[in-house]
Amino acid sequence: MRTIVLGGTRFIGRAVVEELLAAGHEVLVVHRGQHEPQGLPDVPHLHVHRRELASRSTELRAFAAEGLIDLSAMTGGDATTALDAVPGGLSMVVASSIDVYRAFSSLWAGTVTDAVPLTEESPMRTGPPPDRAYVMEGYDYEPAEYEKLDVEAAYLDRGGVVCRLPMVYGPHDFKHREDFVLGRLRAERRRIPTGAGGLLWSRGHAADLAHGMRLALEHAGVRGEVFNLCESQCAPLRLWMEWILEAAGVETELVRVSDELLPEDLEITGNIAQHWMASAEKAREMLGWVHGDPKERVRDSVRWHLAHAPPDDPRDFAADERALDAAGPA
Ligand SMILES: NC(=O)c1ccc[n+]([C@@H]2O[C@H](COP(=O)([O-])OP(=O)(O)OC[C@H]3O[C@@H](n4cnc5c(N)ncnc54)[C@H](OP(=O)(O)O)[C@@H]3O)[C@@H](O)[C@H]2O)c1
Repeated sequence: MRTIVLGGTRFIGRAVVEELLAAGHEVLVVHRGQHEPQGLPDVPHLHVHRRELASRSTELRAFAAEGLIDLSAMTGGDATTALDAVPGGLSMVVASSIDVYRAFSSLWAGTVTDAVPLTEESPMRTGPPPDRAYVMEGYDYEPAEYEKLDVEAAYLDRGGVVCRLPMVYGPHDFKHREDFVLGRLRAERRRIPTGAGGLLWSRGHAADLAHGMRLALEHAGVRGEVFNLCESQCAPLRLWMEWILEAAGVETELVRVSDELLPEDLEITGNIAQHWMASAEKAREMLGWVHGDPKERVRDSVRWHLAHAPPDDPRDFAADERALDAAGPA
């Protein structure tokens, strides 16, 4: 299959390109050219801001694509601009997020509204995403315009498939999801304050999610469908932290402290009422999607992140110290 990938050079998109190439696709990667890390698969690139895709529609059409995977649509405008620039009749998949569910707003609001696991039929958000002020690093959009629900609507309207992604981790993750633990290990912290760590927050390894997106692209019978893609076993936050520590092979104590004392980046380990856990049962049934063993996957990710630490960020562990002092000696 000849497939256009919008995005594709950083993390999840990179895993998608690798997945497509391994399955025999011919790929055209379309992005601005701001992120061209070493070691990317050798495929043609078209450099253009996605706002200006229409100006390159001749080149896009010349590729004679049969499929498209859109990794970089953050706003409704992002989606419609792309859809207007590519030829009709393509098989299409767009990356969305489980932030479209109402449960995400409830989690932020400190309330509980929804049963888990969340299915594709679970209630959706009715207001804007509560973390809208946050702009994903390396992207270029107005925070007030971020809305995956708009992206989904535009693609579904043209028969595209929506894949709702959870917290994504794995090699090349520029968000360094495990760093709330690994950063402390790098600073030789041997005690980490934590809350009860009971939150169920769905995760997925980039390679597994890329596999799911490829299956959705190639399956002619699922056009216009929405799929959650996430691991079926969702270790609570604290167990995930233990897996990270075990994978890093460093003896470190997780010290239970009261929620009021949790450092900001560890507040997620506190008492959170609304779980944010989805079910990918539909993807398993309709796409035959399976994923790797989550604990093995964490090991794979930690191995990569230990070898590729983020740029030095002098951190202040005063809040850790306060919490640990209150908890008493080891
Ligand atoms: N990470 C998570 O936990 C998570 C969770 C849920 C959903 N998602 C979704 O997963 C998707 C993929 O994430 P990713 O960042 O890992 O994908 P990626 O495809 O590996 O990287 C982003 C790509 O988009 C390109 N890009 C960014 N802004 C652009 C613009 N204005 N015009 C053209 N190209 C642009 C970047 O290249 P240039 O900079 O060179 O343009 C890069 O190739 C996103 O839609 C995200 O919302 C992620």
